[in-house]
Amino acid sequence: MTTEQINILIADPLSEDGIFPLRQETELNLNVVVDTGLTPEQLIEKIGDFHVLLVRSQTTVTPEVIKAAKNLKLIGRAGVGVDNIDLQAATEHGIIVVNAPDGNTNSAAEHTIAMMTSLARYIPQAYNSLKNGKWDRKSYVGVELKNKTLGVVGFGRIGVEVAFRAKGQRMQVLAYDPFLTDERAKELGVTKATVDEICEAADFITVHTPLLPETRNLINKEKFAMMKDGVRIINCARGGIINEDDLYDAVTEGKVAGAALDVFVEEPATDNKLLTLPQVIATPHLGASTIEAQESVAVDVSNDIIKFFKTGTVTNP
Ligand code: NAD
Ligand code: MLT
Repeated sequence: MTTEQINILIADPLSEDGIFPLRQETELNLNVVVDTGLTPEQLIEKIGDFHVLLVRSQTTVTPEVIKAAKNLKLIGRAGVGVDNIDLQAATEHGIIVVNAPDGNTNSAAEHTIAMMTSLARYIPQAYNSLKNGKWDRKSYVGVELKNKTLGVVGFGRIGVEVAFRAKGQRMQVLAYDPFLTDERAKELGVTKATVDEICEAADFITVHTPLLPETRNLINKEKFAMMKDGVRIINCARGGIINEDDLYDAVTEGKVAGAALDVFVEEPATDNKLLTLPQVIATPHLGASTIEAQESVAVDVSNDIIKFFKTGTVTNP
């Protein structure tokens, strides 16, 4: 048992039920400080006192933050994507980064299906119209999902769950992932395809890759040109996987009938030109925003912090 105080800074809003493991831990001397909404400068000033930094997606952990973090041993990300953390700087300073890869899979998949359905049936547009006192049934004639082809680019945890649900809607699913084998595709009842084959054949395309140098602008002008007229696009993964300027052009040119976006290159995305287009529906990065997912990711990362200080190992490095 160690009595040395371990200072933990929670810099983004996390589920209080989810951080319960940290609150009730008695073997370790944990000092949990919740201070959300810090500016980058305030975080840099503060971080030197802490051994653990716990974030969601709002806080960007830059090389400057890491340089100032003289006592930092571990950064916990209560969620999947670690693109808001400079992994190279963390590694160079011997700081371990852990995430919570499973806790929000279901919520993100459900949100993706909700966005696809809303897109197909113009639900946000029709809701706005009715709220504004109009009874307009002509402008919102949608399309069915049944018998349509859904292309899933990135077939990991969320992509697979989206495919299961889409099959429940009786859609055909084409899937691309560099690690997808023929056997696994067969087992899951989807057809393995390349990104180009998906672009050529799909009525709906949804992306579920991490944001990496290889996936940035993966869906771009050239890919839009290959797509069917009237294709619908969903991005509940990361802004930047789909090139926003090229998507804007594809929508205004009528190539893309509509897009449903939960994520943007720059967040908060209150000023994004895509939001001016009536064919684009959007949510403010809500894919993982459920009570269940937020509790689950915070529990997972809290348990990993405890495990690290007790055993020196983590579950999700
Ligand atoms: P995952 O790691 O289980 O799956 C990602 C998949 O992408 C992997 O199978 C990987 O092989 C594949 N991939 C990697 N490079 C690729 C490429 N060049 N082309 C095609 N596929 C590629 O992750 P996940 O849990 O399914 O989450 C996916 C992403 O969704 C996360 O990285 C995160 O950015 C995002 N996400 C967003 C929300 C939200 O709130 N909107 C919630 C959870 C996750
Ligand atoms: C994630 O990568 O897990 C998502 O961005 C969800 C989030 O933390 O908001």
